[in-house]
Amino acid sequence: MHNKIDSLFSHLWQDYLAITPSAKKVHDLLEEFESGHSDKSTKLVNDHIALRTFNIEKINLDKLASHFLALGYTEQGQYDFTEKKLRAKHFEHASDMHPKVFISELLIEEMPVDVQKIILKMVDNIADDQSLKDNFLYSGTHWQINTQEYDTLVAHSEYAAWMSVWGFRANHFTVSLNHMQHFNSLEQMNTLLKESGFVLNSSGGEIKGGPEVLLAQSSTMADKIEVKFTNGKKTIPSCFYEFAQRYPMGSGNLYQGFVAASANKIFESTHN
Ligand code: NI
Repeated sequence: MHNKIDSLFSHLWQDYLAITPSAKKVHDLLEEFESGHSDKSTKLVNDHIALRTFNIEKINLDKLASHFLALGYTEQGQYDFTEKKLRAKHFEHASDMHPKVFISELLIEEMPVDVQKIILKMVDNIADDQSLKDNFLYSGTHWQINTQEYDTLVAHSEYAAWMSVWGFRANHFTVSLNHMQHFNSLEQMNTLLKESGFVLNSSGGEIKGGPEVLLAQSSTMADKIEVKFTNGKKTIPSCFYEFAQRYPMGSGNLYQGFVAASANKIFESTHN
């Protein structure tokens, strides 16, 4: 089971790096910083990854989640993002060495009809049982769209536009600061990243949350990649890298949930 989990995250990671070159640089920088302060090399641990989808039955949140439930994950939290027309759940494994999984879905009935039509046309290309395949979670898009369709989506939902270009894959990986030896705070990590030239998402402040909500998060802004549409090219945001610091609850255990107000701002890391 553990090998299967590691294998899935390894595929997701490689697929993510292919369109997020800055994540590899940040990863190497943080690992080097950790190792540089000790004799042995240190591996980063992921706090969570995030996946996106639409609430269309054959590919909805529950379909994506079924892959993780089969690997021993359990559902641990539900979140609503009214303004962005999204719903999300998070899943945990009993071992904290396996990343938590945050899956969101766009509520397409809350989108204008022209947006719904484009999304339904995209998803029509996916066979009914496709979402059960082992590689579905990093299968990318199953459709092609044109630049006008992209522009229609982006005008109403940056999330829908992101899905139309990148499809099924990790939207971000998240470094767990709690598993690091040489960073005491997210501020310290952010300073290193900014000094090294990386751009952080400052929507709602560079650090979302904090000790008062038991979770502090920051993230890079997504890389921008040239993408081919059926009628031309556009350079648009791909994926970003996130950083999380968790704080202990009354029990002494670290809080493992998510904070909707912070996640709401983190979504904007892929905005144009
Ligand atoms: Ni996240």
